[in-house]
Amino acid sequence: MKLAFVVDPISELEPNHDSTIAMIEAAQDLGHEVWVTKINKLSIIEGKAWARMSRIEVDLTFFREKQKPKNISWYEISSQRLVCLDDMNVVFMRKDPPVNIRYLYATYILDLINPINTLVLNSPRGLREANEKIYALQFHQFMPPTIVGKDKEIIHDFVHTYKTAVLKPLGGKAGEGILILNLQDPNLNSIIEISTHQGQEPVMIQQFLPEAKYGDKRIILLNGNPIGAVNRVPTGQEFRGNMAVGGRVEKAEISLQEHDMCKVLGKKLRQDGLYFVGIDIIGGYLTEINVTSPTGIREIDSLDQKNLGQEVIKWVTSQ
Ligand SMILES: Nc1ncnc2c1ncn2[C@@H]1O[C@H](COP(=O)(O)OP(=O)(O)O)[C@@H](O)[C@H]1O
Ligand SMILES: [Mg+2]
Repeated sequence: MKLAFVVDPISELEPNHDSTIAMIEAAQDLGHEVWVTKINKLSIIEGKAWARMSRIEVDLTFFREKQKPKNISWYEISSQRLVCLDDMNVVFMRKDPPVNIRYLYATYILDLINPINTLVLNSPRGLREANEKIYALQFHQFMPPTIVGKDKEIIHDFVHTYKTAVLKPLGGKAGEGILILNLQDPNLNSIIEISTHQGQEPVMIQQFLPEAKYGDKRIILLNGNPIGAVNRVPTGQEFRGNMAVGGRVEKAEISLQEHDMCKVLGKKLRQDGLYFVGIDIIGGYLTEINVTSPTGIREIDSLDQKNLGQEVIKWVTSQ
């Protein structure tokens, strides 16, 4: 089959960490033809979605053996061809945030792919619907106390009630812009002003969960079902657990309570065409639902001797 990935520049990806590369490698190992493109290479021509794309082949043996010689590339890319995306069996939208206007335009182009021939994941409509921070609030029964807004008084009241809180920009990823709010902090007002762009942009404020020091669990859901988990533990010098800021990865089990939570989430995720999703859980509470380009499968594979990339590819090619 033919699979296309809409991604950031391949040269910027980390083959041993990025789930996109795990899926590209798995598709190749399962005998599929893999193409890559970027959001700035998409067009609509005569009502159909087209892309300038390249064939990609990866060779990760050097990385596996941990002796990658310098100047040897781990991938080969063909010259570009203009291809109608209806000719693909599967199109993965795996561009990293920010979800800005360019990202949104790309989803409108992907809307025109004929669903009879081609599975697009995650669904462009679902990607537009699910802001990674706010979408989780549709399941607020699983979340810690959380508000979204830009009103200084409301934010102050919240911090007053919970003493310590976490502020999150709504478009952030990988720990970007996450701040701790404390009533005693002389910078509290400034932090609120800067983060809300002087009361113009809403942010998320959440009760600080002390359990965060034991880790932020990432559970990967495929078609709404949990297929693996990994715990990301903060370094000690840093309260955020994200791998991008040095969080250490650790083997994790999915608890019964988390399975129940995934059942509820899974139904809605399937309805919204959000087939490959990563949820974040701290101290048993849902804190985030990542839908754009969730990661974690490389780490789960190496800790649990799994091949989630192949599991995903087998599922998407059987739809
Ligand atoms: N409510 C919370 N209490 C304590 N720490 C938190 C809380 N929410 C997030 N964090 C810390 O911040 C990190 C990033 O938060 P998250 O909401 O997952 O945003 P991002 O999109 O940046 O990953 C988490 O890995 C965790 O370590
Ligand atoms: Mg997160």
